Amino acid sequence: MAPSLHSLPTTVFLLILAVAVASAAAAASPSSPPGEDGIRVVAAEKRIDLTGPIVKVFLTLKVQNAASASEASYVLLAFTPTEVQHLAIVKATRAEGKRKKKTYVPLPVEPSHLADAPNGASLYAILLSTPLKPAETTTLELFYVLTHSLEPFPAEITQSESQLVYYRDSAVILSPYHVLEQATYIKMPSNRVESFTRVDPTSRSGPEVKYGTYSNQLPNSYLPILVHFENNHPFAVVEELVRKVEISHWGNVQITEQYKLRHGGARHKGVFSRLEYQSRQSISGASSFKNLLARLPPRVHSVYYRDEIGNISSSHLRSDSYKSELEFEPRYPLFGGWHCTFTIGYGMPLQDFLFQADDGRRYANLTFGCPLLDTVVDDLTIKVVLPEGSKSPEAVVPFLTEQHLETSYSYLDVVGRTTVVIKKKNVVGEHNVPFQVYYEFNPMFMLAEPLMLISALLFLFVTCIAYLHMDLSIGKSQAS
Ligand SMILES: *[C@@H]1O[C@H](CO)[C@@H](O)[C@H](O)[C@H]1NC(C)=O
Ligand SMILES: *[C@@H]1O[C@H](CO)[C@@H](O)[C@H](O)[C@H]1NC(C)=O
Repeated sequence: MAPSLHSLPTTVFLLILAVAVASAAAAASPSSPPGEDGIRVVAAEKRIDLTGPIVKVFLTLKVQNAASASEASYVLLAFTPTEVQHLAIVKATRAEGKRKKKTYVPLPVEPSHLADAPNGASLYAILLSTPLKPAETTTLELFYVLTHSLEPFPAEITQSESQLVYYRDSAVILSPYHVLEQATYIKMPSNRVESFTRVDPTSRSGPEVKYGTYSNQLPNSYLPILVHFENNHPFAVVEELVRKVEISHWGNVQITEQYKLRHGGARHKGVFSRLEYQSRQSISGASSFKNLLARLPPRVHSVYYRDEIGNISSSHLRSDSYKSELEFEPRYPLFGGWHCTFTIGYGMPLQDFLFQADDGRRYANLTFGCPLLDTVVDDLTIKVVLPEGSKSPEAVVPFLTEQHLETSYSYLDVVGRTTVVIKKKNVVGEHNVPFQVYYEFNPMFMLAEPLMLISALLFLFVTCIAYLHMDLSIGKSQAS
């Protein structure tokens, strides 16, 4: 681009173009190289909750932009490759306002495609609602969930043994930024802590181990730690869940849920003694489970629970105006590595779930996720079967899912029912949030089924008359 080859206006134009392209690239921030080196973490606190079967991490970051830097529109978060594999959800909020008027504004978090995260780490960008000005400080509250991150050790236990697990992490927070001061707290379910790595200063008080305070950690620091402790929480893993939601404009929403459940804890070794299990329940099979609890919407009716053998009656339903709780038992207690499959079904009143949008479309407002409490769903499929004649369906789910359309058939169906299929892997309780399926519907279709019923009845009626008439005439001819 030698200036001599162009007239002056062309050169100026090209220059402007180059600047525009460069600034556009900078504006598409999370995928562009970090122009935001000004960020540093002034203080960080990480609290890891290992009391359940799922790892929950609460991270508070006080970040500051350098006085000499430009405005920052995002803050990056780093995860190891193993963490990314097991990461079910990441949420971020930013504290705004002073003291009493403090509010927490939710911020979007998205995977960032920056190339230069070392050791295969993945970066996620927390998009700030208002950019962080030079020399400004803000506090971010982060929450994330890791599934399948507690490794049973020993991997096999007998009926009378307790379940011990390993958890691996880093004593310091993995961050692409300089971290001035930080501490990590690990909370375990009981005082039975077999061992933990020391990275001084490290201290333990009861079920909690504290790493730090550490100061002045360079970007991308990582100091591996391992904790080994007792966790007898039932590790209920739903390997596969298919939830079918059938919407009928005749007043009902019918739900059918097929579960394939596994005890994901330490594998059971040796023989199972039901006698020992029943007589010494407090110490025998401490990590096994025999009760399951499903949280369903209020006003459910016709609830059933069955497995491949048949209807199981050992279930209890409690309802109040906010929810219904279904407590039920599989046919046998579940030990590590054991499976069971079952189906839950129930009906719900249509008017609680079907509404009309401002644009005239109808929409079903349903709950995503799995009604069983404290479980991980490896593979979730939700099928929303719309009434026959529905058109242009659109599902609105507040996180990334895989979606496609199918056609299902039911009694008296002529053209079949449009079915919206939504799939997601690695689903936890935090995914139990409302989602909507919008669709267009012509009320004339409401008449299709009754008309078919009427014509079927009419046909039957006419056939009967014809038959009776025939029968009579035969009778007459025989009598004569
Ligand atoms: C299953 O058992 C429950 C409880 O005994 C009963 O209320 C329900 O009607 C049964 N359902 C079927 C389909 O047999
Ligand atoms: C869906 O239902 C939830 C509560 O059940 C409600 O908070 C939310 O506003 C509803 N969403 C829509 C779009 O109607």
